[in-house]
Amino acid sequence: MTQQSNESTRRGFLDVFIGICSAITAAAVTIPGLMYLWPAAKGGAGGEVEVKGAKNLAKGESEILQVKGKAVLVVRTSSGFDAYSAICPHLGCLVKWEGVRKEFLCPCHAAVFDSKGRVVSGPAPGPLSPYKVKEVGDKVFVSAV
Ligand code: FES
Repeated sequence: MTQQSNESTRRGFLDVFIGICSAITAAAVTIPGLMYLWPAAKGGAGGEVEVKGAKNLAKGESEILQVKGKAVLVVRTSSGFDAYSAICPHLGCLVKWEGVRKEFLCPCHAAVFDSKGRVVSGPAPGPLSPYKVKEVGDKVFVSAV
C-alpha cells in the first residue's frame, strides 16, 4: 500500500467514526428531551381515555396521559380521582404533581397550583383546566369537560 492510500483509509475511518459519535451524541441529547415532552400514555383520538393502571396508583400519586392530544394529569385522591390539564396556562410548560405537597408545580417559571388546579402563586394567569373522571368498575376514564 502506498502512503497516500494509507492516509485515505485512515481519513475515511475517522470520518465514519466521527459521524457515528455525532449521531450517538445527538440521539442521547434528543431522545430524553422528547420522552419528557411526550406523555407516557397517548390515549385515543376520541373523547374518553382509559387510565391504564389507575387502580395501582396509591393515594397522592399521579399519571400523565393524553386526551384528544392534550396532556392531562390524573391524581388519585382520598376520595377517588381528579384530572387536570398538565399544560401550564402561563406559557405552556408541562406541570408536575407533587404528591407530598399536594400541589401542581410548573418547572418553567415556578407557578404553583393547589390540588384543585387553582393558582396559589406564580405568573399563571388562570387555573389548570379540569377534566371529567368516570369510574366504571375497576376502570377509570378521563374526558374533556
Ligand atoms: S410556563 Fe408555567 S409558570 Fe411559566
